[in-house]
Amino acid sequence: MTTPLERARRYEAERERSISEAERPAFHLSPRVGWMNDPNGFSYYGGQYHLFYQYHPYDSHWGPMHWGHAVSRDLLRWEYLPAALAPDAPYDRDGCFSGTAVTLPDGRHALMYTGVAEETGLDGRKRHLQTQNLAFGDGVNYVKYEKNPVITGKDLPAEGSPYDFRDPKIWMAPDGSYRALIANDRLSARGERLGGQLLLYRSDDLARWQLLSCPAQNPGRLGRMWECPDLFALDGWHALLLSAQDMLPEGFEYHNDNGALCLIGRFDAATGRFEALRDQAVDYGIDFYAPQTLATEDGRRIMIGWMQNWDTCGLPQDDAPWFGQMTLPRELSIRDGRLCQRPIRELEALRGSEIRFDRVAVENGEVSLPGVEGRAADMEIEIEPEGEIFTRFAVVFAQDAAYRTSIGFRPRESILKIDRKFSGSRRAIIHQRRAEVRHDGGRLRLRLILDRYSAETFVGDGEKALSATLHTTLSAQGIRFFCDGRARVSVRFWKLDL
Ligand code: FRU
Repeated sequence: MTTPLERARRYEAERERSISEAERPAFHLSPRVGWMNDPNGFSYYGGQYHLFYQYHPYDSHWGPMHWGHAVSRDLLRWEYLPAALAPDAPYDRDGCFSGTAVTLPDGRHALMYTGVAEETGLDGRKRHLQTQNLAFGDGVNYVKYEKNPVITGKDLPAEGSPYDFRDPKIWMAPDGSYRALIANDRLSARGERLGGQLLLYRSDDLARWQLLSCPAQNPGRLGRMWECPDLFALDGWHALLLSAQDMLPEGFEYHNDNGALCLIGRFDAATGRFEALRDQAVDYGIDFYAPQTLATEDGRRIMIGWMQNWDTCGLPQDDAPWFGQMTLPRELSIRDGRLCQRPIRELEALRGSEIRFDRVAVENGEVSLPGVEGRAADMEIEIEPEGEIFTRFAVVFAQDAAYRTSIGFRPRESILKIDRKFSGSRRAIIHQRRAEVRHDGGRLRLRLILDRYSAETFVGDGEKALSATLHTTLSAQGIRFFCDGRARVSVRFWKLDL
């Protein structure tokens, strides 16, 4: 008899042959076949980086969740491995939801993930019971623990909902014991949803877990349920990453409904409490959610996110062979109390030869620069006013007679805007997003990374990032610089075709 995992492995190996490499992102991970959402189990194990992902191989839409799997040595060139988990046990028969990985002292790779099993309540309503489960493996094959589930609704505090209890982040504490930080929604006795909280559990053996604390509770301001927590020390602070559902915009923050946010503060390991001093969006573009991080051997904290958002999935066509991609891995730092991010430095090794232009005049119109074109590129762009400050400067890309996407800068309003209205989407979803940026009298530095079906913009030294996916046909290769007013632009351009 074929198991669900064997079936998925056979299917993906067969079906991937119909997807040409040229139609995928070149250095962003996309699903081997079918649908991808959150990154999972992002870790370094056995001399390689491992990235698993929420995966529905049989369709380009979300469905019963498997874990897809890929490995890389530079976090940019990925090799697919066979699917790691399939929903095939009583406690995860309706899905293996998100989770993380840790290396055990005996050398095994351990995954902790949320199992979902549908049950019908006394009122006839169907609900998803969520529990935490383990699987142990060697970097390719994983076996579910025979005593799963290891954390269940019985381990919840009063008000904790067993139906929204997911996305464990596990790590090993300095004394060799384990911690699991899990997202949970609170329910009133009458069944009203009260808003998210995080729960911290402790274990000596990964099998028996004890509730330690509730490190953070949604103050009622930051969305409703929280998903996909991650907690780490960085630059003298602690950062808590969360993906919040149903955010209310505040000024230029939190415009994405489902939005990844970063709380910066202090985590007290003795009490298990997190004191948040500031909060901010992680990404100011259109497509970003559910990030996870890892620490590299050389001490960098690297984040990768799902370059998509539940509200903007707008598939180009229902029968697309794959859908969903990860962001570029990004190096994190905290500067002036804010989370900053830059493309991982490994990207520089993929650059082709440099094309450079210094202080080219752009005046009330568009200019193109010889050799500056294509859909897989790394660009450093420096904009400066010439005389009176200009009204708007834009970098236009993925452009031809029919299509264009732009990053537009309005210095008088200090606004940077991504606009993909004319990128080829046939869906009436959000196509623009604005971010407030700091600049020096109209001088602004941008780094723009294009990878066929996406554009990621990093402002200054990584103070802000804006990510967006594009469905533009690959024949739209143009890159142009536009100014309403007078400006000069300096460009360093590298092709990134691998
Ligand atoms: C976040 C999320 C997680 C869940 C997974 C299901 O995008 O909803 O909370 O584990 O996706 O695919």
